[in-house]
Amino acid sequence: MKDCIVRMENIVKSFGSVRASRGVNLEVCPGEIHCLLGENGAGKTVLMSILYGLYQPDSGDIYYKNKKITIGSPKDAINLRIGMVHQHFMLVPTLTVAENIVLGQYPAWKVLSDMPAIQEKIYQLSKEFDLNVHPEALVQDLSVGEQQRVEILKALYHGADLLVLDEPTAVLTPQESEHLLSFLRELADKGLTILFITHKLEEVMQVSDRVTILRDGKAIATVNTSETNPRELARMMVGRDVLMELMKKEGESGEVIFSVRNLNVKDEKGLPAVKNLSLEVREREVVGIAGVSGNGQTELALALAGLVESQFDEIILNKHSLTQKDLSRLNHLGMAHIPEDRQKMGLILPFSVSENFIAETYRNEPFSKKGFLQFRTIKDYSNMLVKKFSIRVGDVDEAIANLSGGNQQKVVVARELDRRPKFLLVNQPTRGIDIGATEFVRQQILAERDAGSAILLISTDLEEIFALSDRILVMYEGRIMGEVPPDHNRVEEIGLMMAGKTEATA
Ligand SMILES: Nc1ncnc2c1ncn2[C@@H]1O[C@H](COP(=O)(O)OP(=O)(O)OP(=O)(O)O)[C@@H](O)[C@H]1O
Ligand SMILES: [Mg+2]
Repeated sequence: MKDCIVRMENIVKSFGSVRASRGVNLEVCPGEIHCLLGENGAGKTVLMSILYGLYQPDSGDIYYKNKKITIGSPKDAINLRIGMVHQHFMLVPTLTVAENIVLGQYPAWKVLSDMPAIQEKIYQLSKEFDLNVHPEALVQDLSVGEQQRVEILKALYHGADLLVLDEPTAVLTPQESEHLLSFLRELADKGLTILFITHKLEEVMQVSDRVTILRDGKAIATVNTSETNPRELARMMVGRDVLMELMKKEGESGEVIFSVRNLNVKDEKGLPAVKNLSLEVREREVVGIAGVSGNGQTELALALAGLVESQFDEIILNKHSLTQKDLSRLNHLGMAHIPEDRQKMGLILPFSVSENFIAETYRNEPFSKKGFLQFRTIKDYSNMLVKKFSIRVGDVDEAIANLSGGNQQKVVVARELDRRPKFLLVNQPTRGIDIGATEFVRQQILAERDAGSAILLISTDLEEIFALSDRILVMYEGRIMGEVPPDHNRVEEIGLMMAGKTEATA
């Protein structure tokens, strides 16, 4: 048997009636970048969590560096030199970078006295790997990309030989992703072994040496990246051909449903993030907002959803002029919102799937009658949505926190689309969801448009913007740089605008 650093044999893991791992076999060679690919709920995170000691398998064996081992906890994993960057970060926001890195790994009584030395080591590592992380910074002040670099630094600090990254690029800008991928290549060249989960096939093709495809809790194949292609990978994942290109009918937009004039929004630090922005969205049209993330898109979405204060001359929805106060009850006025951060804004994590489905509508008929919740109706409704959107869940009474990341996203999308909104605000709708589900969600958004909705789509994924938009607005530093039709010949122009250049200045 050839040398491998990790061998997982016949791993079985169930949660109640959900069989997350059904006898998985996985072999990883030292120094390779090995991608795990699979649909939402296929069992990728669970398998990696077993390797990191977060879950115990019901049965099966793990061999690490040719020794059979049990990994009882993340602490064991770290001692074995296994590091993991989680799909949903596990840092404590109120602690510093350095405190987070040694948390739980260091005798508490020594942390304080050793802190200068710990910080120095982190500083040196950050410099060596060009990670630009400051040991004394508070995690809550860091951007998503920076937090992720802290997680990577944490693994390097503890001397990881094997680094697991669970969808690290889902939350990064294209530039940050590019940087991360080349960084991972460098680490692998230095001998680190990397297990990498992603839904993005281009990334698999670009960075990995081998790929294992998981489907329904089983590893169905491991292939050499150089001997496969995206279409084949997609087929293996989903078990059918995936279109990879969407049919968009020519739209005939109608009257203006939503408009905003001279919107100004400040960011968390009180600096202007959206500057005098005006736009309108018509019936039966998707207006796409393209841009590199961090150019005010988040603040724009939060302001329009009434979740942060903003100043504006006018916002009109469905012929009603709105005040700041109206914005916070927009859902009663026919607006739906798919937020960018499902865990912070879209979902109530301790609640069940069905409670999340009716979080905003439970007071209304038919879910409530004379003040009494109609449990049967709610359950039937939830099961209907689960079926329609192919959400992988054992029972709709299960806590939403137990669903895989992509399935959590599908719950938000299903709930918001099912409200048949007049105006739909969508921010990064397919982040973290697999290609089959991405295709489905995009189709649903187009179907909403064809049914008459006015849709404002914010996405940092240009391909998504092109696939769905009737008009593209490019946002840069809080302003709209210009409008471009979704014509692939204009990609370069859009790219320039995204970088803040107009034709006149280019
Ligand atoms: N703690 C838990 N309790 C109950 N069920 C769980 C738990 N963790 C995972 N599951 C279930 O196990 C299955 C596999 O989940 P997992 O998170 O591994 O999927 P995944 O492949 O990582 O998907 P995604 O791409 O959406 O992140 C899912 O059906 C999920 O709902
Ligand atoms: Mg996952």
